Amino acid sequence: MSGDDEGKAKVTPWEVRGAVDYDELVTRFGTSRLEGPVKDRLIKLAGEDHWMLRRGIFYSHRDLGTILDRQAKGLPWALYTGRGPSGHTHLGHIMPWIFNRWLQERFKVKMYFQLTDDEKFLFMPDLTLEDTNRFARENALDFIALGFKPGDTRIVIDTEYARTMYRLALRAAKRITFSTARAVFGFTNENNIGQIWFTSMQSAPAFLPSFLEGKEVPTLIPAAIDQDAHFRVARDVAPGLGYPKPALLHCKLLPSLLGGDKMSASDPQSSIYTTDPPKVVRKKLMNSFTGGRVSVEEQRRLGADPSICPVFWYQHYLFETDDAKLAEIERRCRSGELLCGEHKLQVLEQVQKWLAAHQAARERARDHVEDYIMKE
Ligand code: TRP
Repeated sequence: MSGDDEGKAKVTPWEVRGAVDYDELVTRFGTSRLEGPVKDRLIKLAGEDHWMLRRGIFYSHRDLGTILDRQAKGLPWALYTGRGPSGHTHLGHIMPWIFNRWLQERFKVKMYFQLTDDEKFLFMPDLTLEDTNRFARENALDFIALGFKPGDTRIVIDTEYARTMYRLALRAAKRITFSTARAVFGFTNENNIGQIWFTSMQSAPAFLPSFLEGKEVPTLIPAAIDQDAHFRVARDVAPGLGYPKPALLHCKLLPSLLGGDKMSASDPQSSIYTTDPPKVVRKKLMNSFTGGRVSVEEQRRLGADPSICPVFWYQHYLFETDDAKLAEIERRCRSGELLCGEHKLQVLEQVQKWLAAHQAARERARDHVEDYIMKE
């Protein structure tokens, strides 16, 4: 369960290493593929399709059916997702938040957004609590900029909503043994005891809507699949706490510009941050790895491979939502018609346009961020 089984990619909430086989994770974690009747029902109840569903970017779930049953019956449920504020926000974080905003807008439900300043303090050797708390507010701006409204969005900063969070986390923690935490997360004797405790803090918001409203309000947690381990634990302890088990929707990770799988926070070149100025964005994209050939001549003759190309993936995940246009781009890559330099410039224009609008919305959010933050 710890994710370092021989020959397989390591996938834990704190480390993704190796070539991730997303189908294999469904088996390893015991989730369900998002397909067939449950996927059809989600689209039907939402009233429209979404490219992240059509393209299998959100591709796995736990118990989505129970949330859809409630939706069909008009019973309440809430969304919960989060971010570990270890630095500024990059496009890999933004990607699932866009889907979260779409879900909220389609289903008119409350969103609880957790900023784990405690987690990043505990796990990042060089960050102080002041650093992670400051990044929490910076990351909140990006979330708000995506269109979340104060009326139905609550932001939980762990160290600031601590009185409520602590009581919920304690009740979870009492039901999680060290042996479970070690098996699920792969802890060793070298981990500090705050790290071992932390999962109980990430469980807490799953129960927060029920706790606050004094009735059953199950949560649906759309998140990258590397976070699943926390919620396996949360689901196990839920019945003992008298709360419904949270349901999950899992997405894949936005690939690194350097090639490979997860964007690495430790290498800023691997991803585009929402705070990057246009010049930096340009440099990162133009230096990106691609699925191209060593020479123009060879590429014209043999074509490129979009399946390994971050430039193509940026459009697949985020920037080309029109399926017909994306298919045409893929065809032109494969046939050698579209060279990587030209393709990069095309994507650069899409990214810059999106970023300019986002950065403006992000600055406007500065005056309102306190309206979203949960206070005791
Ligand atoms: N641990 C997550 C991270 O490092 C942050 C997080 C907290 C989260 N609660 C969540 C992510 C719920 C997804 C869903 O980014």
